[in-house]
Amino acid sequence: MKIRAAKVSDVKEIHKIVEYYADNKEMLHRPLNAIYENIQEFVVVEENGEIIACGALHVAWEDLAEIKALAVVNGQTKKGLGRQIVDKLEQNAADLGVNRIFTLTFKPIFFEKLGYKLIPKETLPHKIWSECINCHLFPDCGEVPLLKELKK
Ligand SMILES: CC(C)(COP(=O)(O)OP(=O)(O)OC[C@H]1O[C@@H](n2cnc3c(N)ncnc32)[C@H](O)[C@@H]1OP(=O)(O)O)[C@@H](O)C(=O)NCCC(=O)NCCS
Repeated sequence: MKIRAAKVSDVKEIHKIVEYYADNKEMLHRPLNAIYENIQEFVVVEENGEIIACGALHVAWEDLAEIKALAVVNGQTKKGLGRQIVDKLEQNAADLGVNRIFTLTFKPIFFEKLGYKLIPKETLPHKIWSECINCHLFPDCGEVPLLKELKK
């Protein structure tokens, strides 16, 4: 098993994992083209040539990045893979010089275990909420914002 930066050849597998959970209403749908266009943001866990977990880090603003598209394939959860992906994305953020990371999630308890704290939506830059207007679930998607400040 290895955790690594995603490649273009991983996109279809990433899409399949995300779609599975999006169909179950556990995360938002992410079109194939959005994954291709943002593939540099993704990390994956690969085991025996298959992608079993993914996640992305999107720089949103000065000293602020978002964890997106975090998913562990059904059947491989609760083995620490979600935590490993978040750790790697946090490392990527630190390497970029970004120390504040937020997420919008349906699974706040998972992120709280990793040191993220619930925050009021209004404390995030307006730019982030302006993107929500394009979502078909706006304004009642039920996602919760959490933030972590990395230790410098
Ligand atoms: C949420 C998700 C990423 C967690 O991944 P995972 O590999 O199962 O998580 P880990 O094994 O690394 O768990 C880390 C900790 O969080 C806890 N945890 C995992 N899933 C949890 C959940 N759904 N609710 C509450 N706690 C959870 C684990 O018990 C573990 O706690 P511990 O350190 O006290 O043992 C995974 O279940 C998933 O892909 N879910 C569907 C997609 C999704 O909800 N993505 C989240 C973004 S909306």
